[in-house]
Amino acid sequence: MELHILEHSLKVASIAKEGIQICTHGLIKLAFLPSKTRCKFFSLTETPEDYTLIVDEEGFKELPESEHLSVAEATWLALNVVSGGGSTTNSQPIGVTKIAKSVIAPLADHNISVFMLSTYQTDFILVRERDLPMVMHTLSSEFTLMRVVNGETVAANSLGVTNGFVKPKLVPRPIIHPLSSPSNMFCVTSLDPDTLPSVATLLMDVMFYSGGIKEPGASSEDTGHIRFFSFSLIEGYISLVMDEQTTQRFPNNVLFTSASGELWKMVRIGGQPLGFDECGIVAQISEPLATADIPAYYISTFKFDHALVSDAIYYVKLLQKKVPRG
Ligand code: ARG
Repeated sequence: MELHILEHSLKVASIAKEGIQICTHGLIKLAFLPSKTRCKFFSLTETPEDYTLIVDEEGFKELPESEHLSVAEATWLALNVVSGGGSTTNSQPIGVTKIAKSVIAPLADHNISVFMLSTYQTDFILVRERDLPMVMHTLSSEFTLMRVVNGETVAANSLGVTNGFVKPKLVPRPIIHPLSSPSNMFCVTSLDPDTLPSVATLLMDVMFYSGGIKEPGASSEDTGHIRFFSFSLIEGYISLVMDEQTTQRFPNNVLFTSASGELWKMVRIGGQPLGFDECGIVAQISEPLATADIPAYYISTFKFDHALVSDAIYYVKLLQKKVPRG
């Protein structure tokens, strides 16, 4: 298996809901007018707290400097596992489940913080650029490491971290952050970039005008329903994560879904904002999923993490050890 280290230098930022107006000029360009920018990696996720933006250097130039925009201090690189050719059978695990043991757990064991972005097409594991030597060292035994340079994939030469590498003790990994599970169900979908213009006004409505600023005290989460919508346009591929109700606003046959409109339950991770330094959160959640063979997607946002699992009730019990493992 190959692990590709993509060339985009990424920034992770939060846009406050009340600041979205001053950013929409740039965001609309990044999402809907790709020929007008050189941005190759753009992802925008709305949650009840804020909008999370993951964008490359070119895309970042489209955004204004503002008190409403908080940028995480590090520069991030995206890793991507490419399984060498062959069949894409349904039995193949998808999402974070597929990479939990080979990528996520070893990085956590070496205290490397990650930031996850699952899309319809693939799963991106973001690591801080400064951690790259350690990341490469950690994953070189499992993978052929490749770097993308000017669009071409070339063998990555080891960055020479050999000393002081201690095989970590394998300690158990309890779940340390509170979990919650909203009542709405989600779809992980895509659409053909050629049909984007036909749904652009609908997407603008969904992305910028359907959520509104949360009124203090009057939380929509009282009903257990969460506002969550994610759009990404990465290397020409579009991915959308939206709840079932939102999919119904789209014309028939525009959205692709993998297994006949499959719906996913969300597990939200975190009570206090998770920050960017803590390691092992994705591992705590995804490893038991992989052990139990439960497919899951995983989306980190500026404040919290989100797993999308095919059967959350089972999963939550599993985490609480209320049901025996597989
Ligand atoms: N850094 C965490 C980990 O290594 C995941 C990201 C959590 N932070 C966040 N802001 N969502 O598991």
